[in-house]
Amino acid sequence: MKKIVLMVALAAFLMVSAVAFANPKAPTGELKVSEMMKSNKKPPVMFSHAKHAAGVPDCKTCHHTWDGKAAPEKCSKCHTGRKSGKKDNMKNTMHKKCKGCHKAFKKAKKPAGPTSCKDCHKK
Ligand code: HEC
Ligand code: HEC
Ligand code: HEC
Ligand code: HEC
Repeated sequence: MKKIVLMVALAAFLMVSAVAFANPKAPTGELKVSEMMKSNKKPPVMFSHAKHAAGVPDCKTCHHTWDGKAAPEKCSKCHTGRKSGKKDNMKNTMHKKCKGCHKAFKKAKKPAGPTSCKDCHKK
């Protein structure tokens, strides 16, 4: 019984705080995704939040573990170079996430991002 009361109180607190704290802003410049790479086998991949804002308005599409409050954690915090358990390594994770969405958008005939190696891994 005590547990349930506690849970309800916690849920209420979380809902209030989600409104009370201002969301962190998405970076506006170009992020070098290569900062997450384990090696330099491929040229760096640049990622622009600004250019994705219109096509992908929900932050949690990419920051899938984000609580919506504090700044989202780097993907590389959990997706390390090694495959562990259900989590993929960075390369597979990024390829699935980035390329997967670009392919889906292309198929739906919407403006999409690159799907070929050299258009992401730019020299
Ligand atoms: C939509 C963009 C995109 C496309 C297209 C893409 N990649 Fe990547 N790739 C990435 C990102 C982002 C990473 C970063 C993963 C990381 O930090 O380890 C990555 C990582 C890699 C890595 C690991 C490099 C390292 O140092 O850890 C290799 C190798 C790689 N890609 C090869 C390829 C090849 C080959 C192709 C074409 C078949 C390709 N990629 C297409 C975005 C892309
Ligand atoms: C299309 C995918 C995508 C979307 C949508 C997205 N982000 Fe990101 N964001 C990324 C990637 C990739 C990084 C680089 C993460 C890393 O370095 O591991 C990043 C990095 C960040 C960082 C910097 C984190 C750090 O520690 O360097 C912040 C803050 C951030 N995003 C906030 C947001 C917010 C707020 C939104 C929604 C308005 C958003 N993002 C939407 C993919 C996305
Ligand atoms: C707090 C840890 C954590 C962070 C940070 C995180 N992930 Fe994940 N991710 C996981 C775990 C755990 C799984 C596997 C279980 C699941 O699907 O939820 C996963 C699964 C995934 C998958 C599905 C993999 C597959 O095999 O289908 C993708 C894609 C992905 N993450 C992309 C990202 C991207 C991109 C970022 C950064 C914007 C990110 N993740 C940040 C923990 C994390
Ligand atoms: C959920 C869908 C989605 C995900 C996930 C996504 N993108 Fe995109 N991306 C788009 C769309 C839509 C565009 C086209 C935007 C436009 O042209 O209006 C785009 C455009 C781009 C462009 C070209 C924009 C430019 O700079 O000229 C690059 C590069 C790119 N994405 C890289 C990435 C990388 C790297 C990731 C993974 C970290 C990623 N994207 C994840 C939807 C996505």
